[in-house]
Amino acid sequence: MRNVIDVLDLSVEEIEELIAVADDIMANPTKYQEVCKHKILATLFFEPSTRTRLSFESAMLSLGGEVLGFSEASSSSAAKGESIADTVSVVSGYADIIAMRHPKEGAPLVASAHSCVPIINAGDGGHYHPTQTLTDLLTIRHEIGRFDDLTIGFCGDLKFGRTVHSLIEAMSRYKGIKFVLISPPELKLPSFVKEEFIKNKGIEYVQTSSLEEVMGELDILYMTRVQKERFFNEEDYLRLKDSFVLTEDKMALARADMRVLHPLPRVNEIDTAVDNDPRASYFRQAHYGRYIRMALIMKLLEVSA
Ligand code: CP
Repeated sequence: MRNVIDVLDLSVEEIEELIAVADDIMANPTKYQEVCKHKILATLFFEPSTRTRLSFESAMLSLGGEVLGFSEASSSSAAKGESIADTVSVVSGYADIIAMRHPKEGAPLVASAHSCVPIINAGDGGHYHPTQTLTDLLTIRHEIGRFDDLTIGFCGDLKFGRTVHSLIEAMSRYKGIKFVLISPPELKLPSFVKEEFIKNKGIEYVQTSSLEEVMGELDILYMTRVQKERFFNEEDYLRLKDSFVLTEDKMALARADMRVLHPLPRVNEIDTAVDNDPRASYFRQAHYGRYIRMALIMKLLEVSA
């Protein structure tokens, strides 16, 4: 039985297989519409979500399966003090696969030790978000066409932005990668990511607090929201929340073939006027999430079309 807690739980070859299946699902959806008949996905979301939970549910329904779960801790027995271990021991008897989001780093890993069905980490605190990364990789393949020889700018909250951490992990396995880390000093990339996946791997990187200065060299600009829910005090959040705002003026400094990704939700960090720019890929990116999650569910349930 396989779990996906970290994107590195999947090899580069397995990610290629998932992308190939996702592409085939998009081209031939009817071929897949019953492959998970009589299978049940449980979505255990102890933290809010729109894209991840609904795309997982859409994915399972599109494969002919069923879904159950909860979308907030307050409507589960966690509100009465039940542990993750007990919750998962019980729910793994009700479902064939579980996608879990939790505000505590490591919660899905704990869950995997108590589950008799596959656990997928759907985001754990400020740690990792591997299925967002699979979504990002499918987007990059479609929008740019390659994973090698890319200069990727990560902008905003690199400290708490779990999608940033997982995408850096994933991209560190490809050749010719350069990372441009754009953040205020208070929201810099944490050392558990920087040391292991950039410095120890000898990957070229720069750190800056000026988006304008680096726009022209980027293949991808990965914008992120400042993660209000992870701040200890509101004063710091208010001071930092609008550190970077992508506008049409800044887009004018970028190359014609650059792409803007964002895991969403967006707050203020991308002006809505940028949405009409063909280089703005973030809504297409959100749609790709459904298909790569269909491919992942099939892989973990060991079913094929
Ligand atoms: N990208 C992402 O995780 O979005 P949600 O929080 O809406 O699931």
